[in-house]
Amino acid sequence: MKKIKKILIINGPNLNCLGKRQPEIYGTFSLEDIKVYTTKKANLITKNVETDWFQSNIEGEIVERIQLASQEDYLALIINPAAYSHTSVAILDALKLIQYNVVEVHLSNTHSRESFRQTRLTAKSSDAIIEGFGKEVYFLGIMSQLNEEDFLNV
Ligand code: DQA
Repeated sequence: MKKIKKILIINGPNLNCLGKRQPEIYGTFSLEDIKVYTTKKANLITKNVETDWFQSNIEGEIVERIQLASQEDYLALIINPAAYSHTSVAILDALKLIQYNVVEVHLSNTHSRESFRQTRLTAKSSDAIIEGFGKEVYFLGIMSQLNEEDFLNV
């Protein structure tokens, strides 16, 4: 029996307003739409992966969720820290507790935006960054954690 791979997806401040928030930058899907879309799309590729989604606007709640995750049995953490990417030493430090893969994602290409978005504090604790593909970054983050085990004997 194959072990189901579990991936935690954490979203930071204002991502609960996706769909309404600057749709020309972030798209028209709500966070719930993205969750449903990403889950369905990932399930078409493999039934071997499950995702848990968490969102908070509050830095301390994100830190606490990461601390908890460091004791949980996930394969990977995908995190969009949103604005905290550019400011939060607390989230950076919490991410250092995580022993499995950490993938930071951004819907927009932050490199092509304002200069304050060029500071990436939290990404210093991540193994990889995926950004600029809009809502697809969550799917791409999940795909980055699959390997041949997920496709052999299926
Ligand atoms: C974001 C980029 C951040 O700069 C911004 O503060 C966000 C969203 C993105 O997904 O593109 O809230 O993380």
